[in-house]
Amino acid sequence: MSRLIRFLFALIVYLISIPAGAATLSVNIQNFLFSPAILTINLGDSVKWLNKDGTTHSITQDNNLWTHDASPGSSFTRQFNTEGSYSYHCRFHPSMTGKIIVRTPEQTRINIGQNIVTVAPKVLPIKLNLTGKNANTVYLGSYIVNAQSGCANCHSCPTYAVGHNPYKKGEVKQFNARTYLAGGVSVKGVVSANLTPDTTGKPAGLTLAQFKTLLRTGHDPDAPGQFLPVMPWPFFGMMSDHDLDAIYSYLSSIPKAVTPTKACVLGQ
Ligand code: HEC
Repeated sequence: MSRLIRFLFALIVYLISIPAGAATLSVNIQNFLFSPAILTINLGDSVKWLNKDGTTHSITQDNNLWTHDASPGSSFTRQFNTEGSYSYHCRFHPSMTGKIIVRTPEQTRINIGQNIVTVAPKVLPIKLNLTGKNANTVYLGSYIVNAQSGCANCHSCPTYAVGHNPYKKGEVKQFNARTYLAGGVSVKGVVSANLTPDTTGKPAGLTLAQFKTLLRTGHDPDAPGQFLPVMPWPFFGMMSDHDLDAIYSYLSSIPKAVTPTKACVLGQ
């Protein structure tokens, strides 16, 4: 019995801790209203309409892209894979109207990048310094660094907060915020660099131009003529200028941290 309770508890913790990625958002149909009447979602999210009235309503897109009659107590779920604005109404009660706004791919990336550092329970509990920066560019950088590139895998020692390693059964994922991206991970015998801002605010002490050259060519400005042997620059160097700008902007906004003296080893 206690094992069942522990399992249910772990399941609930897991379900409320899903931070970003695709979600299903609810619209209640109650008292002859769609609530919320206007809902903004990410590309790929689903919307679930739940009819709480005692009468049948429909969810009918204004141009008839879709329509569904929902009997009392029933629900209807639809996934949105195309950006845009979708107005709908109830065909039985035309005064009932609603709208789903689906973010563009770029807006979706920005939104998820922002959620990673702002929405509780935070996957990455750090405070970003947005002073003098374009917040959307910083949040896009958060998405690229955290959700796409796995920079923390090699640049945070340890990658996950103690007790929050998702590879360990029952632990809920949370990144190590204290020394986030401060380096000190030994990868194939090479220790990764501290990417946090230096005293002048430059991430890893690099200007934007140096940062881009390093990711595009693998040349370390401190050691001319040498390639970074481990860093996956041949991959990251293919990113658009726009995306590298976003990474740089994000790295400029994360908290300063000192590299842990005792190195971690990748994968341990
Ligand atoms: C596979 C592990 C790995 C991943 C993933 C990784 N790095 Fe690195 N990175 C390293 C290592 C190790 C070094 C030290 C130099 C070397 O040997 O390549 C390094 C060096 C760097 C440097 C040079 C710092 C300096 O001043 O010399 C920068 C900048 C950097 N990484 C940025 C990033 C960013 C940004 C990401 C994510 C987009 C990332 N790294 C992902 C392993 C990694």
